[in-house]
Amino acid sequence: MEERLQKLLASAGVASRRKAEEMIAAGRVSVNGVTVTELGTKADFGKDRIFVDGKPVVHKERKIYVMMNKPKGYLCTVSDTHDRPIVLDLLPDWHVRIYPVGRLDMDTSGLLLLTNDGKFTNAMIHPSHRINKVYRVRVKGTPTEDQIEELKRGLVTEEESFAPAKIRFLAKEGKYTTWQVVIHEGKKRQVRRMFDAVGHRVEALTRTNFDFLSVDGLKEGEWRFLKKDEVRRLFKDAAGRGEKEKTKSGFAVPRSKRKTSHFYDKKKGR
Ligand code: URA
Repeated sequence: MEERLQKLLASAGVASRRKAEEMIAAGRVSVNGVTVTELGTKADFGKDRIFVDGKPVVHKERKIYVMMNKPKGYLCTVSDTHDRPIVLDLLPDWHVRIYPVGRLDMDTSGLLLLTNDGKFTNAMIHPSHRINKVYRVRVKGTPTEDQIEELKRGLVTEEESFAPAKIRFLAKEGKYTTWQVVIHEGKKRQVRRMFDAVGHRVEALTRTNFDFLSVDGLKEGEWRFLKKDEVRRLFKDAAGRGEKEKTKSGFAVPRSKRKTSHFYDKKKGR
């Protein structure tokens, strides 16, 4: 539906109507490539390409789903008090509050999703939904077969526990070995802590896959929008895997009560 540009910019969350009028008068707004300075001009979000300061305006209600190949050295946060680089620095400003889906450490690179859709975020990160995340992990030294078996079974220490991981040997280079690790949990610094627990420090960590998505094709720092069917499939996969863990009542089974639980049970001490 066509609406006055200032009203449209205000409803998109760009600025108040008065500020938007000032932006238009100052020649900061363009519609379909043409700078607009007249306040009565009308436009349609559905049809017209509206830019402010050369950046596309996206309606704040519009859901955005992005996948990025995060480089090392960027924080997964929406702002940083110390002014360090953040992943949002790598995206255009759509005047919409988008944020990372879960986290990768500053020193981790690879596949990161970002969105402004809270339901999508919950579906992707809830551990009961068992979305697989695949990492390429370079560690110092060569873990023994027993150590790898321990991680595969689901490591339990006095302080913490990790669900079973799928682990595959990839390569050995000098003092380092590289492994492919598949987990569905998303605990803080999980992969680093898993290998720390068996005495092998992680030297480099990259997330290569998130469910069926692969980072291949995106260079570090590059991003793309997810396609509609990719978003649909991610929701479906999250729901499908979550179903397995549900009771008849539809509520998720508490971890401690799951028959197949590999999680540390504080009461039982295992
Ligand atoms: N595990 C980690 O240790 N770090 C990450 O960034 C992701 C998984």
